[in-house]
Amino acid sequence: MSYNFDEIVDRSNNYAAKFQEAELHYGTNNVIPLWIADMDFRTAPCIVEAIKQRADQGIFGYTWRTPKYFEAIAAWQQKRNGWLPDIAKMAFAPGVVPGMRMILTMFTQPGDKVLIQQPVYHPFADVVNNTGRQLVVSPLKRDENGYYTMDLEDFEAKAKDGAKYFILCNPHNPVGRCWTREELKQVGDICVKYGVEILSDEIHSDLMLDGHKHTCMASVSPEIAAITTTCIAPSKTFNLAGLQSSTIVFNDEAKKDAYVAELKRMDIARNNCFSLVATMEAYNHGEDWLEELLVYLSDNMRFIRSFCAERLPELKPNTPEATYLNWVDARALGMDDDTLKKFCVEKAGVAFGEGPDFGFGGSGFLRLNAACPRSVIEKALTQMEQAVHSR
Ligand SMILES: Cc1ncc(COP(=O)(O)O)c(C=O)c1O
Repeated sequence: MSYNFDEIVDRSNNYAAKFQEAELHYGTNNVIPLWIADMDFRTAPCIVEAIKQRADQGIFGYTWRTPKYFEAIAAWQQKRNGWLPDIAKMAFAPGVVPGMRMILTMFTQPGDKVLIQQPVYHPFADVVNNTGRQLVVSPLKRDENGYYTMDLEDFEAKAKDGAKYFILCNPHNPVGRCWTREELKQVGDICVKYGVEILSDEIHSDLMLDGHKHTCMASVSPEIAAITTTCIAPSKTFNLAGLQSSTIVFNDEAKKDAYVAELKRMDIARNNCFSLVATMEAYNHGEDWLEELLVYLSDNMRFIRSFCAERLPELKPNTPEATYLNWVDARALGMDDDTLKKFCVEKAGVAFGEGPDFGFGGSGFLRLNAACPRSVIEKALTQMEQAVHSR
């Protein structure tokens, strides 16, 4: 490996949410933080270098995106996923979640139904509820091996019942599914049939484990592309979430124009100067770093599974196909969710993402962020093992 993902980088004193915001959620910062979804790895050296060069200029004025910016993003999608987004339909967003919120606000009415599939990344429910739209949940199905699939019968019944949008998590946080083309076609065809627009959140789509291949929802068929708006970003892939830049690929140019006009009215249409160079550098030159990262992450998932199988069978990690998140079944501990949280934090000194936050089907589960050096995961699981076995 050319890049050292085993390196421990001290983030405890750099305003990192993972370390310094833990107190707000867990009552202490004195925990191994495996919760919020960013990585403890330094990003690709070429990105650090590009940011340093930009900083060295010493001028941090207003920015202007040249065509090179969206061209780099489109070329990356074509190369990695075989999908060439239309630049005329691409727009900047200061984040995927704010972008989603704007889309729901602009293109639906208060009270309109919006479908999501839980358990899922909790801001999906929040954006629907906070914009006064009606949340409709179609639960995912889980088999005895912890493998999740879509419940298409349930989904169709709810789509038919007047849903205006479906927010798809592709690939899926937290259950780690890399949806197959066939699965996407089935759910997409239901949306086409009932006129439900699709908002496909593909922020984790570069994080494919063990050779899985991502399918962009907008590439599945022309009919599905016509109703699909896609959200992408370099933030998860290259650990750039603090730079706040994402991209929305609209299904319709007029919609994109209306959205951009609204961004301008809000005066949030510009990248910050660092996100501009970091995004282009990532997509133009970051691929070899990403390939090594994916090997390291896949090995971390194997490490977690073998550790738990041998030493901590009360925790049942899953086998994610994508993302750096492991969805761990902790129900064998026999604790309710509040007790489980308290136990992990106070007895084991570990902060996991809490299952119930992800909605229906989340109770009894923990989300483990595996994007950290293996030694950190080993320490956290060893502390869990000691706490569990000394109960
Ligand atoms: C599925 C998903 N969408 C969106 C986000 C956040 O995106 P942003 O920070 O660009 O709003 C996350 C972060 O964890 C995520 O997992």
